Amino acid sequence: MSGISFDVRRKDVAGRIGRLEINGKAIETPALMPVVNPWKQTITAEELSKKFKVEALMTNSYMILKNQELREDVEREGIHKFLGFDGMIATDSGSYQLMVYGAVETTNKEIIKFQEDIGSDIGSFLDIPTLPDAYKPRAEEQLYETLKRAEEIADAKIVVNAGIQGGKYLDLRKKAAEEIGKRFPLVAIGGIVPLMERYRFSELADIIATVKQNIPQDRVVHAFGLGHPMAFPLAVALGCDLFDSAAYALYAIDGRYMTPYGTENLDELEYLPCSCPVCIEHGLKLKNLYGDDKVKALAEHNLYVSLKELDRVKQAICDGKLWEMVIRQCRSHPNLLAGLQRMLNHSEWIAELDPITKKSAFYDIGEECGRRSEVINVRERVKRVKSDNLREVRPFGMVPAEVADIYPLGSATTFREIEDQQTYKVRDIVKVRALMDYQFGEGAVGLIPDSTRIMKSKNTKRMRWIYVGNEMAASIRASDHFIIPHDWLAGKLKEKFERPKLRVVLDDDEESVACVKEGKSVFCKFVKEVDANLRCGDECIVVDSKDNFVKTGTLMLSPKEIKDFKRGMAVRIR
Ligand code: GUN
Ligand code: ZN
Repeated sequence: MSGISFDVRRKDVAGRIGRLEINGKAIETPALMPVVNPWKQTITAEELSKKFKVEALMTNSYMILKNQELREDVEREGIHKFLGFDGMIATDSGSYQLMVYGAVETTNKEIIKFQEDIGSDIGSFLDIPTLPDAYKPRAEEQLYETLKRAEEIADAKIVVNAGIQGGKYLDLRKKAAEEIGKRFPLVAIGGIVPLMERYRFSELADIIATVKQNIPQDRVVHAFGLGHPMAFPLAVALGCDLFDSAAYALYAIDGRYMTPYGTENLDELEYLPCSCPVCIEHGLKLKNLYGDDKVKALAEHNLYVSLKELDRVKQAICDGKLWEMVIRQCRSHPNLLAGLQRMLNHSEWIAELDPITKKSAFYDIGEECGRRSEVINVRERVKRVKSDNLREVRPFGMVPAEVADIYPLGSATTFREIEDQQTYKVRDIVKVRALMDYQFGEGAVGLIPDSTRIMKSKNTKRMRWIYVGNEMAASIRASDHFIIPHDWLAGKLKEKFERPKLRVVLDDDEESVACVKEGKSVFCKFVKEVDANLRCGDECIVVDSKDNFVKTGTLMLSPKEIKDFKRGMAVRIR
């Protein structure tokens, strides 16, 4: 398979901001690829690039193949020149037509070859989308044919958006994800457009979560045809990286006006809830436009809204506020709320991927917050702490007062905040000992002798440095109250706990060990083993293959991801 690379830059919930490079063209994910109809470009590829700053689009190779005039042009010029777009071009195979019309006039091999010939950056094989309400034997039969076709094109010369089918049957989705995930770096969840159209978000959430749980974490995940902005927060939070949308143009034909919360009928609106360039320019006169002008204006609005919503999702990832965004947004429609409830059923899995510390406070904005992944991680960690000084921090439950300052407990802001404002007087050393157990594991408390001196910041009056004898053992980060072990404490932790606990073990490569010693980051490909109980954002101890101490650092990905990724940073060294 030709050149594809993907690495993760930022994380929140099970979502990520990544960099995807194919054929030397790089885009940031999550990304929305607008679909361009080769017959009739409602918004042209050139406009997509210039006006909308779109870096990747999708078009349909089957429609080109089946029209002699188009085909000859595209075969001669290549797809990029034909569309006047030099960004990343994905092509679909006719599978969608197969779903809608029941048959297509091409073969799997022919359509892949054609996509290679016209220079697609990302092709699709002829997967068979199963309708959501198909009976299981039918879904199964279609899946087996799909898997056979995947096998048939395993040596394709282009990167393939490899379809994962299985309808609404999660055991079939699991099987499909395992088989496709094994072979293809880019996988595409298919057959979900009808779910989106009928707002069946609970099934959609289960399908995405099932697929993600059964593929290696470094696979780029495309959600085929998921082009409505109301689905973006949920889908990204579950780990989708790519979307394509024909919806922006198709909805426009029917006068449907997209918003991040649903779809309105333009003709029924008395106020426009949007300030994109189209809505600003036309105001309500948008309703009075005619024919193609109206379709185009509405398509532009729909696309602006979709692209903007994805930007908001990305900002939420940067802020560590994606859970909050999903919860807020899912409260706008009962079916989205049902989707959120399903997503929360997967919180144990999400807890393994979700960063353990975040930039923003934990806002308790509704009962769903009690099932967020952070709550699961806190409940697991408070079990390590011995205390008879428990206090309630909603929605986490009873937690030792000694650790109440650490993220997310210290930042938890509930709507009953005022009642919670009783302060607990706990001696600093007692706090530090409890934090040691909470953060590193039961027994770490023993590394803090009575002679420990704890210095406070003059400004904030919060604990800042921990000295044992003359050694600066650790510092305490102001933003989240995490203990940052210095070499002395890291050494003690390593003695105390057996491999692999708290460790990132480097490969036997002397050169990479030397680099890390100098302070360079640890990259995934040099990691041999990671403690599975660590979380992204945790402080960890980097050791060589013989368990000699190398450095301390911060885990930038989850242990699962570090195992699966061959690219990107695993540990930022201190
Ligand atoms: N477009 C929308 N859904 C699908 C699908 O399941 N497979 C393919 N190839 N394209 C799609
Ligand atoms: Zn608008």
